[in-house]
This record gives sequence, C-alpha cells and structure tokens, in this order.
Amino acid sequence: MTALVRRFPDAASLAGAALGQITALARAAHAARGRFTMALCGGSTPLPLYAAMAGQGLGIPFEHVLFFFGDERLVPVTDPENTFGVVTAALFAKAAVPAGNIHPMPVDIVPPDLAAAAYEAEMRATFAEPLGAVPRFDLILLGMGPDGHTASLFPGSPALGETTRLVAAVPPPVTAKPAVPRLTFTLPLLNAARQVLFLASARGKEAALEKALADVPDPAVPASLVRPAGDLTWLVATG
Ligand code: 6PG
Repeated sequence: MTALVRRFPDAASLAGAALGQITALARAAHAARGRFTMALCGGSTPLPLYAAMAGQGLGIPFEHVLFFFGDERLVPVTDPENTFGVVTAALFAKAAVPAGNIHPMPVDIVPPDLAAAAYEAEMRATFAEPLGAVPRFDLILLGMGPDGHTASLFPGSPALGETTRLVAAVPPPVTAKPAVPRLTFTLPLLNAARQVLFLASARGKEAALEKALADVPDPAVPASLVRPAGDLTWLVATG
C-alpha cells in the first residue's frame, strides 16, 4: 500500500484541498451508485473542512449523502467532548442534510458492546450488502493523535486484533484525551473502504507521522495499520 501524501502550509489550505477531493469522490460515487457513503472523524483538524462542507456542499445533493461516524466518545451528545455534537454544530446545523441520512453512534445504549453491535447492525442494514460482506464506504475520514491512534484505535488495544466485528467498544485510553470509553470502527471496516483520507496536523505528531507513512505496519502506531483495499491519501498541515 503506497499512500499519496500531500502537504499544506496550514489547516485552512488543507481543508480546501480536502473539500475538493471529497467533492470529486462524491460526484463519482453518485454517478456510479446513486449515493455517497462517508464516515466522519472527530478531533479539531477536520472542523474547517466541516464548515466548508456546510458552506459549499459536496457537489451533489445532500439527499444522496449518507453520514456515519468512525468513532465516538461515550458521553452525552450535549457533552462538548461528544463528536456528533461538535459535528452537528459545524455541519449538520448549517446544511440541509436529511435527518435520516445522519447516523450517529449510540451513546445511550449499555453496555458499550451492545451499542457497538447496534451500530454495526444499523450500518449493515443501511448498506444492504450481501450477508457477511463488509460494507465498503466510499470515503472514511480519519485523524491521527500524537500517540499514533486513529479513530479510537489506540496503541496496544485488543481492538487492533479484531477480525470479525466491524465496530468495537474500547475502554478509556491512557495515551490520549478524553479518557472516556469509546466506540470505534475496527480495521476490517476501515480497510474495506474505497478511499481513506487522513487529515493530520504534523505539529507534535512528527514521530508518529513518520512511522505511519513508513509503509511498515506497526501496532504501536495504529494509523500505520490502515491499509485500505482502495486508495489511501494523507493530507498533512505542516504549519
Ligand atoms: C477523536 C478522533 C481522533 C482524532 C485524533 C486527531 O475522537 O478524537 O476520532 O482519532 O482524529 O485524535 O485529533 P486532532 O485532529 O484534534 O489532532
């Protein structure tokens, strides 16, 4: 797997390039399959992109875009650490996306393993793939933390070895904040994607970024284990 790496001076130029690439992917998916399936990520790097998506759209009607989430913190939607709440303020509150097209991860189902299974079932029902087939997202957005985590797959996590479940519940991380339980896509789902797009600010993540881009899978750097069947692109803000 050879990743395409594009570097930008700042987060704003990275967001502009990301919007252009996502718009092209959306148009191609809509032409080929009548819809565009996209998984969003948390963190701060994608926020300018989400604002740009709200302001400029994706080149196809939002009625034909399905939004899922690659991970979620198991805190109430009203908690400022909840990714769905943050993305709603940046994107869904400012764009005409049909409510039925937005699939937040459930934070009110206990235990977390049941929430993970429920989300996987919702995803499978939405994609309506043949029984047993792994849903293939047109695009999965990912970020990376200084510890090399991506989505909520953290270094040393048992979830890194998951080969069957597509969504897993994981305990609070010790190498990243917030230290709360999470739900996360697992590698089988991430690696089934037609396109994975990492959005990363390099500052403070230089060591993890070097390992993630070294094309050598390393469980100590979960982002390096994302090797999709489709295309892999890294957009890196160096400023
Ligand atoms: C989360 C994200 C996480 C994020 C990275 C990078 O829920 O925190 O899914 O994987 O993408 O931590 O975050 P920044 O973009 O803020 O550096």
